[in-house]
Amino acid sequence: MKIERSFHSRIKKMDFENISFGNHYSDHMYYSEFRNGKWINSIIKPFGNIMFSPGSLVFHYGQSVFEGMKAYKDKHEEVFLFRPKENFKRMNRSAIRLEMTTIPEYIFMNGLKNLIDIDRDWVPKKYGQSLYIRPILIAIDKCLSAKPSNDYLFMIISTPADYYYKKPLKIKIEEKYSRSASGGVGFTKASGNYASSFYPTRLAKEEGFDQILWTDSSTHTLIEESGTMNVFFWLKNKLITPLSNENILSGITCKSILSLAKEEGLEIEERKLKVSEIIDGLKNKILKEAFGCGTAVVVTYFEIISYKGKNFFLPDLLDKERISIRLRKKLLDIQHNLSVDPFGWRL
Ligand code: COI
Repeated sequence: MKIERSFHSRIKKMDFENISFGNHYSDHMYYSEFRNGKWINSIIKPFGNIMFSPGSLVFHYGQSVFEGMKAYKDKHEEVFLFRPKENFKRMNRSAIRLEMTTIPEYIFMNGLKNLIDIDRDWVPKKYGQSLYIRPILIAIDKCLSAKPSNDYLFMIISTPADYYYKKPLKIKIEEKYSRSASGGVGFTKASGNYASSFYPTRLAKEEGFDQILWTDSSTHTLIEESGTMNVFFWLKNKLITPLSNENILSGITCKSILSLAKEEGLEIEERKLKVSEIIDGLKNKILKEAFGCGTAVVVTYFEIISYKGKNFFLPDLLDKERISIRLRKKLLDIQHNLSVDPFGWRL
């Protein structure tokens, strides 16, 4: 692979004490083109603009999928990727559903490793901080026919990350809009899934909420996920999460939390979860905790869940009493190489 180094590093301008998510990019990017059935022009090059025809398919029909993953440093400043092969596999599942080319493992992994190697100084050192990595695959055929593209561009960029949310979240259970539908693309990281969530999320924000708790599109009675997070509920001494299905993004952090919770000996249920169970749990004070998890947010707990115009407060527990905080620490300790890695997640 060709490597073209940047001679003007921007790292001195980066304030690692005040990281705002996604606003500063590391010095380099990975770039590879899929043309006429072949991957060509693979290169690590200085981060910069790319030029496209306005006729490119991605702008018209939305063939675009992405991933979110992270690199962490340990106290010796060694850099670790967290479960990158899971992201590689999920990206290809997304690509297949959107009738795009898949990415060979060597393209994904070599691009990733070389980028992280060259930009290792951009991986922050503090506990909880990381370098958020964004692989993206887009359709570049210059053609306005509504058909899948033949040619694609695969890129990887990265941005230093700290807490995505700095406070507990106020969540509204959605009764009208939906994020996904049966037979749709809800399980993928299709860019359009995010675009379609912005309008209902803005309406929820205008009412004072941070995020929406999405429900199934046909009955709005089953819990799915929230914002950019999979969700967990600590109800009647069981940790419950909606069973992964075609409407729910298959979260790598979610799977990791499930493994860690099992290792802790917690009783776990992955199943259909009714809105009514959550509301009963809130009314009867047997829902002790609710939290979201995802690559960007790690683990963030909820303080309010609102339904049909009524706000329900979750118990105001101390951090040391919270399962969410305990699981978050277990996860971060593995990510930062502060504890053993029983599942082989660090790379
Ligand atoms: C992630 O957690 O990786 C996400 O995709 C969240 C992102 C939309 C900010």
